[in-house]
Amino acid sequence: MGTTAAADADAETETVTAGVVGGSGFAGGELLRLLDGHPNVELVQATSREYAGKSIGGVHPNLRGRELRFSEPSALESVDVLFTATPHGITMEHVEEYTDAADLLVDLSADFRLATEGQYDEWYDGHTAPEYLEVAEYALPELNRENLGDADIIASGGCNATATLLGLKPLADAGVLGSEAQGASDTSSGGEPRDGADVVVDVKVGSSEGGAGGGAASSHAERSGVVRPYAPTGHRHEAEIEQWLGLSVSFTCHAVDMVRGASATCHVFPDGPVSKKELWTAYRGAYEAEPFVRLVAGGSGSYRYPEPKAVAGTNYADVGFELDPGNERVVVFSAIDNVMKGSAGQAVHAANVALGFEETAGLEFAGLHPVGSP
Ligand SMILES: NC(=O)c1ccc[n+]([C@@H]2O[C@H](COP(=O)([O-])OP(=O)(O)OC[C@H]3O[C@@H](n4cnc5c(N)ncnc54)[C@H](OP(=O)(O)O)[C@@H]3O)[C@@H](O)[C@H]2O)c1
Repeated sequence: MGTTAAADADAETETVTAGVVGGSGFAGGELLRLLDGHPNVELVQATSREYAGKSIGGVHPNLRGRELRFSEPSALESVDVLFTATPHGITMEHVEEYTDAADLLVDLSADFRLATEGQYDEWYDGHTAPEYLEVAEYALPELNRENLGDADIIASGGCNATATLLGLKPLADAGVLGSEAQGASDTSSGGEPRDGADVVVDVKVGSSEGGAGGGAASSHAERSGVVRPYAPTGHRHEAEIEQWLGLSVSFTCHAVDMVRGASATCHVFPDGPVSKKELWTAYRGAYEAEPFVRLVAGGSGSYRYPEPKAVAGTNYADVGFELDPGNERVVVFSAIDNVMKGSAGQAVHAANVALGFEETAGLEFAGLHPVGSP
């Protein structure tokens, strides 16, 4: 066996210990499901203040029969990797404690997604540990794989931002979104970067995005049947999207009658003609080697474009597009499961990269078909 093969074998059999702070929530529950089945992970702790002492299966019925019980977050065990799935503001408050307890911290909240304190002043209520912002790496491997290997803190992306970024980044890199965009100088598509494109993003999200605590607007009676604009302007994920695309987008979000799922429809009005061939080149180039992004554009049958049902419960993102030459528009679709690719799945994928495991370890399973509302 050569050195590389031996190293690969070591990576396949190595096991790390993991803990989850906020294990009783929706994103935390998905982390527990994923880590429970992960070939390289021994899950040793899950915290919840409300359910301390109760079995994890008592809160997440899909995990019935597992022995692990919730414990208090104030009694953290030392682990190799600690996932935090807590509301905004908790990880930044406890970051020293969390990084003392683990070699690698993977945070699912928004606490370390943005690059500067100024962005937190503008989009959130400031930041209490800004010195850690430059240490943290954004999790989405499709955008930031090369920086995850050495990371000590990984910030898992927002679900709406993830859906939007996966839809638009190939166009930004191909110069279709204009010269403002990151990577726009890459003219691999053959053309010159365009001056700038108008980009309008409309995301529809399921109720699990609001967390297990929910609120009045999330109760079944209120939420059922809803198609409700809940963030017509000023959604915080806009900051994350603009940070990675390098240009501004007009972003609106609707709450719809799904439990899981985020579906982004992005209307792009490029400042110059674009061909379908150019679009295919951009998307194939970006995603043909990506294990969790599938191109779904046209074809026949019912499932011709991305939709959340087809990715529910999985770490896949389905991305597709259509050209509208009459209106000089490109319309891009991107569908994910908000608590998987938009949160826990993305976090585990990024941890796999950081820890040198097979990237797809613990994540390579298809969803259900047929299935009811995701
Ligand atoms: N839901 C999504 O679709 C989604 C997608 C992407 C990212 N996220 C992010 O992931 C994080 C968790 O979201 P969620 O939807 O899973 O929320 P959630 O269902 O409300 O769960 C929150 C978890 O945090 C724990 N918690 C709350 N306050 C805490 C504290 N002070 N110290 C320690 N633990 C605390 C809660 O348990 P106890 O109160 O019992 O301790 C619970 O386990 C959020 O930052 C959210 O923005 C969520």
